[in-house]
Amino acid sequence: KWAAACRQRTVLLAGPRSFCAGVERAIEIVERALELRGAPVYVRKQIVHNTRVVSDLEQRGAVFVDELDEVPDGATVVFSAHGVSPAVRTDASGRGLSVIDATCPLVSKVHAEARRFAREGYTVALIGHAGHEEVEGTLGEAPDSTVLVQTAQDVASLDVADPSKLAFLMQTTLAIDEAADVAGALRDKFPQMRAPGSDDICYATTNRQAAVRAVAAEADLVLVAGSANSSNSVRLVERSQRDGTPAHLIDGATDIDLAWLSGVSVVGLTAGASAPPAVVSEIIDALSGLGTVTVTERVTTTESVQFGLPREVR
Ligand code: F3S
Repeated sequence: KWAAACRQRTVLLAGPRSFCAGVERAIEIVERALELRGAPVYVRKQIVHNTRVVSDLEQRGAVFVDELDEVPDGATVVFSAHGVSPAVRTDASGRGLSVIDATCPLVSKVHAEARRFAREGYTVALIGHAGHEEVEGTLGEAPDSTVLVQTAQDVASLDVADPSKLAFLMQTTLAIDEAADVAGALRDKFPQMRAPGSDDICYATTNRQAAVRAVAAEADLVLVAGSANSSNSVRLVERSQRDGTPAHLIDGATDIDLAWLSGVSVVGLTAGASAPPAVVSEIIDALSGLGTVTVTERVTTTESVQFGLPREVR
């Protein structure tokens, strides 16, 4: 395996890749909370879906919990980038917890749209994946008037009391084309359906999907740095596979199976929005250990989005 894996290779880096503005902000919020308030700082759920980020912050004094009942009275708790339902906010304030909200502003925007549509008497079809934390938070904004739609098949069985009062929203990290298919099926069935004011799938998801396609078109294999529970990272693997290029999700270099590299001259490399840039460097180092590597970048777009910090940590 080692001999087959060793050869001269090109690594094609997808640009953009790795951290988005919402993830950078969420990590900075926990870091600053630790600086300003001292450890421990509690974080409800993984701050972002990445094992490296979580273990790094854990070592610095963050304590990750699943639910608020694991947080002692009066402690500081950070809400993760994926957002929370209003019920969680109410619970936290009832408990007297000191909340710092790291919800990505682009997730908050979808929550605001859910509230607005519900207030105006609309049923909201939320296109997303069951069980994802972001979806649970958004569903919680208007639980009685929101239905989760995962596939075009779900649309076929969807029954809406007043079809003239239907709107749709999306999870921010979906596959662009698949989400468009579901939205299209909804629109075919409910032509009067209202759309969100602006796209719900965020700029970072959109840009990383376009970037991985550009490298997948030239590569024999695509490696995506990211954790298994990271929606946008998994979508990058699927995107590459749908374009006909084998792809694997890896948390770090040690996850690389040498058999994948047999006969591979061009490796496409990207990272999900929650995966640190250091993991990308680690993967390049590992590939360099197997032979000569030339690193080239394919930049499909550049990003300049930045979000301000909440006042508690400014
Ligand atoms: Fe926000 Fe999109 Fe990143 S919703 S956390 S900018 S992947």
